[in-house]
Amino acid sequence: METFKLRVFRYDPTKDSEGYYQEYTLPVEKGMTVLAALFKAKEEQDPTISFRYNCRAAICGSCSMRINGHATLACKEQVTKILEKYNTDTITVEPIGNVKPLKDLIFDFDYLLEKFKKIKPWFIPKEPPPADGTEYRQSPYEHHKIDFASDCILCASCVSECNALKANEEYLSPFVLAKAYRFAADSRDGARRERLEAVLDHFNLEWCVRCWQCTTNCPKEVQPYESIIRLRIIAAEEGYKTPGEKHAEIFEEDIKERGLLNEMLLPMRQEGLLGAAKRAPFGIKMFFKGKVNIADFFGGHKVKRHEEVEKIYEKAKEKGKQVQIRIPQILGVVYEDKRKTAKRANFLDKGGNE
Ligand code: SF4
Ligand code: SF4
Ligand code: FES
Repeated sequence: METFKLRVFRYDPTKDSEGYYQEYTLPVEKGMTVLAALFKAKEEQDPTISFRYNCRAAICGSCSMRINGHATLACKEQVTKILEKYNTDTITVEPIGNVKPLKDLIFDFDYLLEKFKKIKPWFIPKEPPPADGTEYRQSPYEHHKIDFASDCILCASCVSECNALKANEEYLSPFVLAKAYRFAADSRDGARRERLEAVLDHFNLEWCVRCWQCTTNCPKEVQPYESIIRLRIIAAEEGYKTPGEKHAEIFEEDIKERGLLNEMLLPMRQEGLLGAAKRAPFGIKMFFKGKVNIADFFGGHKVKRHEEVEKIYEKAKEKGKQVQIRIPQILGVVYEDKRKTAKRANFLDKGGNE
């Protein structure tokens, strides 16, 4: 009988100072999921293995773990497919990353729940319910904007490899931002600004380093990274000056007035004295590396032939031209649901009519 090794991360805080791995040899069975393999090891070899599960059908989000380094749902992944994919006879299961392990594969979810509460992850209607007793209505287009984001099952697989969370544990995290988008973009929601303020606080939308790990890992195709981009657009539509926008405005002022950027005063102009004070050690390092000019601290100098920059601005003014962010043009792209687009193309390929 063909067998494989299930290598399980073990950790018991009452006796272990750090985690270790324990191996169990199991038969390869057709259709066996990684969760089923864990059950077999627990029932037949070692009742002390601890892991979370509930639905066993990729619905409840309880069984997320790293399987051969990638966070996903153990009840969704089949043993034979994993062995084939990694061309190996070993499957390693560990808790997801960026969280505190509690026991074996079980991790502390409270830490994530505290973040989750900040965006008020529940529907707050902007109007009283319809007088005729029907439900709150929205058009199919409005629903299309939030459909995919509503599929989140809070498994936290997207958290595991999030580089922003690794760098800053205060970062709200991808699924929290995806849920904030789900409600902020809902045409029936009455707490859009409250939710936006929660995500704009502490530069959450800016911390994301666009690594796309969250979208890649998500077993339900929720697209957390894309939700972050959409939240930025909604914040701009609502008139919030995000740090990114302020940054761009300061750049433009500098180019207009001097023809080059004043990196020395940028943090103070963007984040005020307190923000600049936090960045002082970095500024000092930059100074000693010759990256900043001390004259910039007193306003700096103009670039040579600055009058040519002025002429460009004058010409643009004469022609009534200005740089614009044209949100309506890109709405079709940002709200596109990749799964549905793929399904529709498939349907049309097969001769269907829209
Ligand atoms: S894209 Fe942003 S939110 Fe997603 S994993 Fe990377 S840093 Fe985190
Ligand atoms: S966004 Fe995806 S990976 Fe993240 S918690 Fe929701 S379902 Fe899980
Ligand atoms: S047990 Fe529910 S998602 Fe895996």
